[in-house]
Amino acid sequence: MLQGKRILLIVAGGIAAFKALELIRRLRERGAAVRCILTEAGARFVTPLSLQALSEDRVYTDMFSLTDESEMGHIQLSRDADLLVVVPATANILARMAGGLADDLAATVLLATDKPVLAAPAMNVRMWTHAATVANVEILKTRGVTFVGPNDGAMACNEHGPGRMSEPEEIVAAIESMLATNRPLAGKRALVTSGPTREAIDPVRYISNHSSGKQGHAIATALARLGAEVTLVSGPVAVVDPPGVRTIHVDSADQMLAACLAAGAVDIAVCAAAVADWKVTAPSGAKIKKKVGAQPPPLELSPNPDILATLSKPGPRRPALVVGFAAETENLVANAIDKRVRKGCDWIVANDVSPAIGTFGGERNTVHLISTVGVENWPTLTKGEVAGRLAARMALHLAGPRSAAAAE
Ligand code: CTP
Repeated sequence: MLQGKRILLIVAGGIAAFKALELIRRLRERGAAVRCILTEAGARFVTPLSLQALSEDRVYTDMFSLTDESEMGHIQLSRDADLLVVVPATANILARMAGGLADDLAATVLLATDKPVLAAPAMNVRMWTHAATVANVEILKTRGVTFVGPNDGAMACNEHGPGRMSEPEEIVAAIESMLATNRPLAGKRALVTSGPTREAIDPVRYISNHSSGKQGHAIATALARLGAEVTLVSGPVAVVDPPGVRTIHVDSADQMLAACLAAGAVDIAVCAAAVADWKVTAPSGAKIKKKVGAQPPPLELSPNPDILATLSKPGPRRPALVVGFAAETENLVANAIDKRVRKGCDWIVANDVSPAIGTFGGERNTVHLISTVGVENWPTLTKGEVAGRLAARMALHLAGPRSAAAAE
């Protein structure tokens, strides 16, 4: 819920501006007060009247900047808000934010504010991947701006790729996460691994698996929502980096382990990645050519480091809570109980990854939580719900035995 929260929505000029209308409706439904600043370009896509009707507040535009200034200065607009949200965050407004320009009311407020800022980028894929935009986003991230999206998909310009603005419900979730007052994991650090790993055969071929990263990314999001400072180490996935989470992209298991160790001391480690068990012992430096009539080349494999077992090792740096996943196709619970002991972690989340169940890449998951005290069978939930429930349990666990027992 967002009861009593005040959102200052900055609507910039892009085709995705129409989604701002649905966003306002959803925010109001959750009890938030919404006030809008509409840029001149934004007014070409949505009218001040529609924003005003949905927000039930006056809309601030440059056209009336003189009267706006006399009634409500740009400092006051920011002062009255708990959060500033830029929808759509176009390449232009991101560049103006990164450059510190104050050439219209929206940019001036963004420069003058000391409130948290969330940006929902939307633009053509080439603009999103252009070095200038990449650099601007990096600058803004280091200054504390949180990003939600963009998503991969078809765009209004008939192209396909990253650049499509997040859906209103995703933006609402990011807003709720940023404004959450229930932050039991504030001050705690968490590390999450997610997605598959890729083990090179040669520069063009690799061994990998079907992991989508959806469950691991959802866990990183849920932990951040509860206030934890989260580092997500992700293998190659199509899902976007979660808002408010430091995401490190890796390919191989060796790189994933190195990134986990470099993350430093953490209170919670969750290994949700489907790490390849084996790597090619000596990947070829050049593309392996097939020779007519010759046998296929043999692949010599050697074991990858076990990241979960490494993080679970007793010692002063061991996280207070280490959680692993067990992906099984048979004897799910028995194998998972055995795996928890073998890997030395505290909890195992066991899930059935038989193709018929559709866990890999799907939206839902049926899991069993295995700890030292026993096995809990959870109902089928969305991956987001599994993540939320798991994060809440982790918070209780860290809060101490009395709170954890009360939740049992
Ligand atoms: N894991 C890991 N590093 C590896 C292999 C697995 O960190 N090299 C972690 C996974 O992230 C997961 C757990 O270990 O949390 C279980 O992985 P899984 O592949 O299900 O089990 P394995 O140990 O590989 O055993 P098996 O393949 O025999 O089922």
